[in-house]
This record gives sequence, structure tokens and C-alpha cells, in this order.
Amino acid sequence: MSGGLRIWHPFTQEALDPPPIRIARAQGVYLYAGDGRRLIDGISSWWVNLHGHGHPAIVSAIAEQAAKVDHVLLAGFTHEAVEELRASLQKILPNLLSHIFFSDDGSTAVEVALKMALQYWQNVGRPKKQAIVALDHAYHGDTVGAMSVGAESAFTDPFRNLLFPVHRVHSAYCYRCPVGKTRASCDIDCAQSLERLLTEKHGQIAAVIVEPLLQGAGGMIVHPVEFLQRVRRLCSDHNVLLIADEVLTGFGRCGKMFACELAGVVPDLMCLSKGLTGGVLPMGATICTSQVHDAFVGDDRTRTFYHGHSYTGNPIAATAGVASLKIFEREPVFDRIAMIARIHRERLDAIRNHPAVGEVRSIGTMAAVELHADDPGYASKLRPKLYKFFIDSGVLLRPLGNIVYVLPPYVISPDELNYVHDRIAESLDLCQS
Ligand SMILES: Cc1ncc(COP(=O)(O)O)c(C=O)c1O
Repeated sequence: MSGGLRIWHPFTQEALDPPPIRIARAQGVYLYAGDGRRLIDGISSWWVNLHGHGHPAIVSAIAEQAAKVDHVLLAGFTHEAVEELRASLQKILPNLLSHIFFSDDGSTAVEVALKMALQYWQNVGRPKKQAIVALDHAYHGDTVGAMSVGAESAFTDPFRNLLFPVHRVHSAYCYRCPVGKTRASCDIDCAQSLERLLTEKHGQIAAVIVEPLLQGAGGMIVHPVEFLQRVRRLCSDHNVLLIADEVLTGFGRCGKMFACELAGVVPDLMCLSKGLTGGVLPMGATICTSQVHDAFVGDDRTRTFYHGHSYTGNPIAATAGVASLKIFEREPVFDRIAMIARIHRERLDAIRNHPAVGEVRSIGTMAAVELHADDPGYASKLRPKLYKFFIDSGVLLRPLGNIVYVLPPYVISPDELNYVHDRIAESLDLCQS
């Protein structure tokens, strides 16, 4: 291809994938294409959008903020928008979390958490505690540190020489139980691999990182709450920090404001992004306990956390975050979430015995169907077939290989959500042909 500058699209194989659909307008749960097509945004545009596209309260707040302070660096400066966002988040975050560090997106929120955890142990005089533990099937982003703690896959393969080594332990993937149990007979035995590791190596381990209750890109794997509770207890018992990556699960996705809340667990560090701005502008945040933060404070400048991005704490993004959290207060957001969760459960129940279905699972606003496939995994040939089928039916769903899932904006109506589930039910026959 010669001449001109072209857009290189993410996660796209230009030689095989269909050309991108040009979206001219986004409103509520719909994406309107320039060619007249209308798509239900069944995955909240990569899990970011909460209250529907173009919510007037967010749109007007960011327009006003852009005219007031568009951007200013956060080193040596502060501003009203970021302070307001801090105050709004304080109302919903666990009290034990005392400091918030802003960054740009989910990956940078994770990078910050990892770096904070490593430097924390150096600052408190335990420099040997430098290893990170991550779960099988994990996904934490595409930057090098975030990839290192993610599961090895075709996504990370080309960079394997660059990734830092991590200890990997079992995830609570009940459908494909790593220790051969069934949920009825198990005592969260999958957590024993973490227990053994921490018992043996806690003197070298800085932190355990998890996606609490829901591993997203790894296959929409839903964990029993007892697994997260066990991980928390093991980290506390062995003096290891727990990092909860709530980039996907935060802001109501799992039914409560944060997934950790469902398990009654408070991590030492929490990563937020995606829904942080209602899904309108990029922003990341890493929140930590005062124990972690205070280790960075002192006369000695080498204790400083030398990390920052140009757009850290951007005022317009922060204002979007404040406006989004006000919507939680003013609109019946958790009623909408409960409605989505109920419809998901009913509709999944109706298809769980279909011969094409391996397992159905849901948590809060996420519903997933793991399909039988001879080639399970992201590269499954079912993926392009299903993607096309859904787009042709007016729904944006991006199956993770043989796993179809829905994660809609909270403003989806029951009719619209049932329409999406109708298409999923129809697609099952396609999987058998
Ligand atoms: C749990 C989790 N962490 C981190 C990320 C990375 O976020 P971003 O794509 O904004 O860098 C993602 C993205 O899907 C995610 O699901």
C-alpha cells in the first residue's frame, strides 16, 4: 500500500478482518454508522461506557470545564476538577484507601500499582521482596509491565524476551477447574497453589495482582467470592500486598460499585480506569492505603515515586468522572444494573442446556456463554463468524474466541437487552452448522 497516512487499527488483522465501520453518531445505547446502520453497543465500547453515549450531564460538564482549565500538569499544581473527583471517589471507596495517583488508562494504572508495590518494599527496607504473583488467564493491559502480569498468549508471545518473570498461580476457573474439582465438592482448592507459593517464598514476594471476581479478556471467568476472600487472607497472613485491578469491574459492572465490595475485601492497591469517566475520556487511577503511601514520604528524595504522565489528572477527564458519579446519585443506576443482571440470568438459564453451550456465567451486568469448540481460545474460528452475525443483526458484540459475552451500558432497556439475548440464542445454531 503506498501513499498517504492510514490508521492502523488496534487488535485488527487488516488482511482478514472486515474494514472498520465508520460511526457518525453515538447516543444512548446506540452507535449510528454513516451508512445508515444502527448498532446496539453490547460491549459498552470496550467496557467503558456506563450511562449511555452522549449523556447530556457529562457532555455539558466537559464543555464547561474545557473553557475553564483545559489542562495543567499535576506536579506542583492542582485544580478544582481533580480535587472534586477525589472527593466524589472518597464517598464510594473503602476508608482504608487513602491516596489516589492519577494516570492515563487501565494499563498505566496497573504499571503504577506494580511500581508502587516494588518501591514500597525497598522504601521500608525489605528490598528482597520484588517478585509479583499473577493469576492464570489474567489480563491487565498491553504495556510491557501489564503484559508481564497477564497470561502468556498470542498477544504477548512476540515480546516474551522483554517481559519480566512473574509467579503464576491457579485462577478459580470452575468450568475448567485447574485441580479437577466441581464447585459442589470443592473448598476453593485452586487457592492452594497461591498458599504454597506464599508460604515458601513470601520473603521475595512484593504483591499479588488479581482481577477481582471477574477475569475479563481471559474469557469472562467468574470467580466465587470465597476465592478473592482467600487471596486477601493469604496476602495478609504472609505480608504481601494485594493489588485489585478493578479497571473492568469498577463502577457497578459486577453489581456493586466495586467487585471487592461483593467479597467484603479491601485491597492494598486498587486500579481504576474505563468507567472512571463514565467511559467518555481516558483516565486511570491507582489508589493505595496510607501504609503504602507513607513509605514514600521523608527527607530523603530517593523515597519519591518518580512517575507521571503528561496528561495525569486531566481536568476535562476529571470533570467527566465527577459528572458520571453524580449520575449514580441522581438516576436509578443500581436499579438498572439489577434489571440487567436479572435478564441476564433468565436468558442464560434458557440456553444453558443447548448442545452448543459449554457453560453460561454471569455477574452483575456481564453475561457470558462459553461455546463448545474444537479450537477453544481467542483464535477460534467461531469468533469472526459470530462477530459478523451479530453486526449483521445490529448488535456490537466481540466474542473472545468461543466465548460470547454481553456487557452493555446501564441504560439499555429490557427490550433492547432481550433483543441482544435473542440474537445470542439464534447464534447458537450457527455454531453447530
Ligand atoms: C482488568 C483490566 N486491566 C487493565 C486493562 C487495560 O486497560 P487499557 O486498555 O485502558 O489500557 C484492561 C483492559 O481491558 C482490563 O480489562
